Order: sequence, then C-alpha cells, then structure tokens
Amino acid sequence: MPNKFYKNFVLKDGRKVVLRELKNSDADTSVTETNKVISEGPFLYLNKKVTKKEEVEWIKSLLKNIKKKSAVNLAAFEGKRILGTVSLRFGKGRNSHVATMGIWIVKEYRSSGLAKLLFWETVKYAKKMVPQLKMINAGAFATNKRSLKFQKKLGFKKVGILKKDGRIGNRYVDTISMQLEL
Ligand SMILES: CC(C)(COP(=O)(O)OP(=O)(O)OC[C@H]1O[C@@H](n2cnc3c(N)ncnc32)[C@H](O)[C@@H]1OP(=O)(O)O)[C@@H](O)C(=O)NCCC(=O)NCCS
Repeated sequence: MPNKFYKNFVLKDGRKVVLRELKNSDADTSVTETNKVISEGPFLYLNKKVTKKEEVEWIKSLLKNIKKKSAVNLAAFEGKRILGTVSLRFGKGRNSHVATMGIWIVKEYRSSGLAKLLFWETVKYAKKMVPQLKMINAGAFATNKRSLKFQKKLGFKKVGILKKDGRIGNRYVDTISMQLEL
C-alpha cells in the first residue's frame, strides 16, 4: 500500500529530512536507532535492547492499529536512516478522543527542531484520520528533565504524578503525567 503521508522538510540548520509513515522494511534502521536510545539512558519503559524479531512484530502490530485507526505514527528519515518517531495510540469507546504519545529522536537530531516538527505534523495528520482527537496524554520519568521540558514547550500541562512508576536499577522513579488539550 502506498504511503499516505510523505513530506520533505529543511531543518533550521539546513539538514533535509523526510517525514512519512513507518514501513515493515524500516525494521533494520528502527532496531538500530531504538537500541541506541535505549543504551543512552533510562528514558523509556524499555529496559533492554530490542531484537530485530521484536521490532518486526512491533511495526506489524503498529501498522495493523493504524489501519484500524487506533494509532497514528510518523517517523523522520535521512535517506534510509530513521531519525525519530512519534506514535499516538487512541483509547476506545468513551476514551476514543484521547491519545497517548510516545516519542524518541536520535541524539544527533536533538535541539534541531525536528522533535517539535514531527510532533505537530503527527498531530495534524492524526486530526485528519481521527477528527475527534481532543486530548494527548504524555509524561516522562521525573528524572527525564529534557523530555518534560520539551513537553512543556509544546503546551503540555502537568496533571499528576504516578508514584514509583518505573524502576531504574535498584530505585523507583515517579512518572510525571502531562496532558495537552487540542
Ligand atoms: C524527548 C525528546 C524527543 C525531545 O527532543 P529534543 O530535540 O531533545 O527537544 P528540544 O531540544 O526541542 O527541547 C528540549 C529542551 O530541554 C532542554 N534540556 C536539555 N537537557 C536538559 C536537562 N538536563 N534539564 C532540563 N532541560 C534540558 C533543552 O535545552 C531544550 O530546551 P530549549 O529549547 O529551551 O533550549 C528527545 O530529547 C529524546 O528523544 N530523548 C530520548 C528519548 C526520550 O526521552 N523520549 C521521551 C520519553 S518520555
């Protein structure tokens, strides 16, 4: 099936990126770059590297959910290399106007404006696919100051704290819950 979304952008530092939906054939670059982010620090719930098989299954299930309109995902690319991705997963029934966001950007493209661009392009695209989208839930470990600052810059507001929501080594860490009303 052809990609429904395909756009070229030039970042403020002049680097060129393409934003499009993920494809099954992106599994190799996706596993490589996801594992780099996992190795960098305790930012995600994932606490060990993913295998190629797991990544293939993850993309397959994501694409199935996109088809059912229960998820929207866009990723940024430089050639074949994935630079980051934003996923929005929708709730069901009385919660179907709410999506939960997941995001990561490779180290070399942080502070470039790509994260913000990818986020808002994904939201715009999601609104077209699922017009009732009204609320985005996000959040980050309290230790992930960069992600929390990023979310605040986008307009997310702190709405709560999930105590001891993560475990990093031998200590627990809270998750700061954030929401953005569209
Ligand atoms: C979270 C993420 C997507 C944000 O993208 P980004 O390109 O880094 O975001 P931005 O640079 O636009 O915004 C981050 C802000 O935090 C600031 N910042 C960086 N390190 C910081 C720190 N240790 N403490 C506080 N703020 C920090 C940056 O200066 C920037 O603010 P500014 O624009 O006012 O200078 C990206 O950092 C990332 O992928 N991180 C690893 C994975 C991750 O944490 N994913 C989210 C899981 S909840």
